[in-house]
Amino acid sequence: MRADSFEYGLKNMPMFKLNTGGSIPAIGLGTWQSEPGLVGQAVKEAIKVGYRHIDCAKAYNNEKEVSLQLAMPYKEGILKREDLFITSKLWCSDHNPTDVIKALDRSIERLQCDYIDLYLIHWLVAFKKDALGFAPENFAPLDIKATWAAMEQCYESGKARAIGISNFSVEKTKDLLSHCKVRPAVNQVECHPHWQQKKLVPYLTSEDIHFSAYSPIGSSNSSFAKINVLQLPIITTLAEKYQKTPSRIALRWNVQQGHSVLPKSTHADRLATNIELFDFEISKEDLHEFDNIEQHRLLSGEGTFVNDTTSPHKTVEQLWDGDL
Ligand SMILES: NC(=O)c1ccc[n+]([C@@H]2O[C@H](COP(=O)([O-])OP(=O)(O)OC[C@H]3O[C@@H](n4cnc5c(N)ncnc54)[C@H](OP(=O)(O)O)[C@@H]3O)[C@@H](O)[C@H]2O)c1
Repeated sequence: MRADSFEYGLKNMPMFKLNTGGSIPAIGLGTWQSEPGLVGQAVKEAIKVGYRHIDCAKAYNNEKEVSLQLAMPYKEGILKREDLFITSKLWCSDHNPTDVIKALDRSIERLQCDYIDLYLIHWLVAFKKDALGFAPENFAPLDIKATWAAMEQCYESGKARAIGISNFSVEKTKDLLSHCKVRPAVNQVECHPHWQQKKLVPYLTSEDIHFSAYSPIGSSNSSFAKINVLQLPIITTLAEKYQKTPSRIALRWNVQQGHSVLPKSTHADRLATNIELFDFEISKEDLHEFDNIEQHRLLSGEGTFVNDTTSPHKTVEQLWDGDL
């Protein structure tokens, strides 16, 4: 979907259509690695400057603090629940079907929000119940059919207005589509100019699954981000040409492909800058320049979801089905 086919909703926030009939804001606030004591303030500032989508997860360990600020605008009558779009994610230790709906209930309780707009399987990796970290003994066998059937119950219960996936390759998505009753509305994956997901994007488009871009400005806070996306020559050149910050160029590139973006910041000035995406357009010729950028996945799963003895994914190639 191109920028000119945005739908406007949620107080003039551009939206992309989902296959549920609902829609998702073009930009949301990321909350991974937003520290305790800072994340609440970031959510408050974000809502003030126009963000309506907050991307959360059990694994981020900050849903409670996020909720205190989410609740404020409803309590003060500034916004209604339906003015906000809240995503949360099923963690790897809750894949057992009986745990899926309980995990959703707990996120709803922590976020104090009655329902979740979008509930995603965070990673297609299962851990033993209550396992905390990435230790070799924590991995458990995967049963995606059973986990997805429980996700479908979450959707049918109305507690999750849409369900989807995250970190699913083309192969993993195809497999899910071969047995699902309710199709995933969204696949949330890494995407920025340095990892453009050239295989996954056309596939998801052909299946009418919305593409949501995480780490859209290159996750500079992460130890595994070896390259600074905002310093790519094409980004700095276009920043100069369009007189916009490098972050806005990187985000606008994604949005012009029809992808929602989820930049994280806990700084008020950056939150305000990052959302200023809808008053300019990168020209077709300049968009072509992005085709020549060397491609590298930043969040490969190495050292976490990949383990050559106990994980179902013995290698990074297996985790991503060779799409590296
Ligand atoms: N589904 C998944 O598995 C998954 C995985 C990764 C991420 N995500 C989601 O996607 C969100 C975003 O991804 P991310 O946190 O990896 O990375 P990101 O949003 O690409 O980058 C965040 C980093 O950029 C900095 N930053 C923000 N705005 C900036 C600006 N205008 N100029 C320069 N630096 C700026 C932030 O610092 P400050 O905070 O100090 O401003 C932070 O260090 C996450 O928070 C999470 O919600 C999901």
